[in-house]
Amino acid sequence: MLFYERLFEIAPEVRPLFKDDLAVQRTALMEFLAVAMAMLHDPQGLTLLLRKLGRAHRGYGVEERHYDQIGLALIWTLRFSLGPAFTPQHEDAWTTLYNDMAGIMMEAGRNA
Ligand code: HEM
Repeated sequence: MLFYERLFEIAPEVRPLFKDDLAVQRTALMEFLAVAMAMLHDPQGLTLLLRKLGRAHRGYGVEERHYDQIGLALIWTLRFSLGPAFTPQHEDAWTTLYNDMAGIMMEAGRNA
């Protein structure tokens, strides 16, 4: 919830892309992040999933500039929720992971 509140604060223009009720969306995002964590040892499998997700996002009306906004909201949420437990090393690792995932999704969207 915190993530979406932050996202719509920094990027109100993306609110209409989402359904009014964010309950399903919240679960889908958390589940996908859990899947991504579990698949870090299988980058090829993760890449296939991300390509599919990237193509679907093109259909949701997502534009490339939105990926930066989502990334900022995600890192902010982790920092805000975890406080000092979210170390600079964690932030670097999450930023790298997010940017890699977003890069794969955007490329798939371009070729969709
Ligand atoms: C690494 C980046 C992202 C991940 C991992 C991610 C993950 C997901 C997942 C798992 C879903 C559930 C539906 C599906 O499986 O297709 C979804 C839907 C959606 N995402 Fe993302 N997303 C990302 C980036 C973005 C960005 C940049 C936007 C732009 C605002 C966005 C907006 C949406 C919208 C509008 C939906 C569909 C909502 C609906 O119609 O129910 N996502 N996302």
